Amino acid sequence: MKKTINRYHFAAIDSTNSWAKQNTHLFDPTGVSLVTAEKQISGRGRGTNRWVSPAEHNVYASFCFFIPKDFSHLHNVAQLLAVSASRMMESRGFRPKLKWPNDIMLSEKKAGGILCEIQEVQGIYCVVAGIGLNVNMPKESMFEIEQQVTSLFLENGEKTLNVEEVVQDLLRHFCEDLDVFLKEGFAPMLRFYQEHLMHQEMQQMRFRDAKNQWKGNFHSLNADGSLNILLPSGEIKRFTAGEYTNPKERRG
Ligand code: BTN
Repeated sequence: MKKTINRYHFAAIDSTNSWAKQNTHLFDPTGVSLVTAEKQISGRGRGTNRWVSPAEHNVYASFCFFIPKDFSHLHNVAQLLAVSASRMMESRGFRPKLKWPNDIMLSEKKAGGILCEIQEVQGIYCVVAGIGLNVNMPKESMFEIEQQVTSLFLENGEKTLNVEEVVQDLLRHFCEDLDVFLKEGFAPMLRFYQEHLMHQEMQQMRFRDAKNQWKGNFHSLNADGSLNILLPSGEIKRFTAGEYTNPKERRG
């Protein structure tokens, strides 16, 4: 059955994810709530990173929905949203790639990122899947980001896109994918995800998880979306979370 959609839109907000987490009581437990803003004052990235969120240029959106606590594919929600965003971008002629686990890349630069947060509300989980997508961001607004970034505008011959139309497209793709995901898990999206992964077999990787830094080579992806890295010792180590860091890239 099609889910009801409720929209909460703000001209400016600290962070759509933070607002969503503080207002789960407003959300329809059977529907999808979408929180968007034109500008975020304290946009948050993964870990301790901030997400630079200037006014009007970009999509700042949090998709919120409820999931039973025993749903076994919860760890794939961020990858699911990365797939939906990539499908949306492809339908508009872009050629996105995915950096494991869920960075959205164009021309090997980051165009979008996802921060997925889960909160228990009255015995079930409320998922807040936040996405920042650089839509019309010009080069001059990127100076404070210490990472190689780009926008749809820059990759599209400096043609401006309508941000609200991008939000609507993304919402449509995400709701389609979420319906399938809630019934069948991540398996139906795995092929798309795998085909769009930017990492090539044996590519050298630096990688950090919550505790350690690792060096190794990309080995493979598992059916549950986790990553295998071949360590110099010959051990193949499986990661369910972490961050790939390109030795050539700087990071904020
Ligand atoms: C990353 O570090 O790659 C994740 C970035 C996630 C940014 C989005 S913008 C909408 C939502 N609200 C936030 O504060 N963060 C996420």
